[in-house]
Amino acid sequence: MKTVLVTGGAGYIGSHAVVELTTAGYRPIIIDNFSNSNERVIGQIESIVGSKIPTYKGNFQDKKLINKIFSAEKVVGVIHFAAHKSVAESVKQPLEYYENNVAGLISLLEVMELTDIDNLVFSSSCTVYGEADKFPITEDSPMKPATSPYGTTKQICETIIKDTTQASKKLKAMSLRYFNPIGAHASALIGELPHGTPANLVPFITEVAAGIRKELTVFGNDYPTPDGTNIRDYIHVVDLAHAHVKAVGFLLKQKPAFYDVVNIGTGRGSSVMEVIRSFEKTTGVKVPYRIGPRRPGDAVSYFASATKAKEVINWQSGHTLAQSLKDAWLWQETLKKKS
Ligand code: WQD
Repeated sequence: MKTVLVTGGAGYIGSHAVVELTTAGYRPIIIDNFSNSNERVIGQIESIVGSKIPTYKGNFQDKKLINKIFSAEKVVGVIHFAAHKSVAESVKQPLEYYENNVAGLISLLEVMELTDIDNLVFSSSCTVYGEADKFPITEDSPMKPATSPYGTTKQICETIIKDTTQASKKLKAMSLRYFNPIGAHASALIGELPHGTPANLVPFITEVAAGIRKELTVFGNDYPTPDGTNIRDYIHVVDLAHAHVKAVGFLLKQKPAFYDVVNIGTGRGSSVMEVIRSFEKTTGVKVPYRIGPRRPGDAVSYFASATKAKEVINWQSGHTLAQSLKDAWLWQETLKKKS
């Protein structure tokens, strides 16, 4: 069985990737400092897959720990999820974001180089495109100035990885540019665990539907879109997890110094109002909302071209928006029961 180190493997996307890697026959091992995740998630993952998941509690920037893991485990590659990911927080704490996301990646790459771990799948983001103006967004769309320090860290990390693959002559890597991950595993044992007030649309909707919050504020309905609300590409987190399994399998077959980037989205755009209506129709639960002012930094529309993902790693999304919202709701209801 091929062992893959998953940094941030207890997080929202990481935990789903660990499940899919195990199901696909890999042996994922987790390193996570649980700063933005919960240790209970490890047990939930193990309940889903029916086996133990080797887990190291610690910081992926701890070179001694990473070295220890690489010496103890025969790791064929790394999937690097561990990073700070809040757009709003990055504006308030840019240095924290550059230190953790950029300096942290450099530290990981240095240990990988020293220990001959030659395969890296990097968790990137559609935010690297900045204010895109052509849709669907293809991978050769230009990287415009990012709209937040968070997006800039992802741009810098991609460049660091690309340059390192070319210089090292051994390292092979792929950057997966996620669009908007939503939903949860059908078991409702793992899912998104927002800290405090959710910044993102779908967890906010499910908390309103669960009566945890009074109403949703739609950030503007005067955009140049069919219903005036802005458009995003919402992808089921399990489909996103599958993309990582495909990327690892593809990367292992490539020649040294290989590097490529792939959008991971459905290829379909949905407006805020379409998400609200789909949620209400799918769950039968009303979502009270009000129209508020635009949120600074919001792009009008963002959705992926999913052609390259299909051509290169033979991946495409498999869930509809309605299925993703239903899974998000099932997860929210489970959370509510636990609380
Ligand atoms: C979606 C839409 C809001 C909340 C996120 C991450 C970013 C990246 C992509 C990973 C927007 C509207 C939201 C609310 C609303 N992920 N909205 N009321 O901004 O596209 O970006 O996914 O890298 O890091 O931040 O997602 O869910 O915040 O917003 O009207 O209470 O919902 O205006 O149009 P976003 P989001």
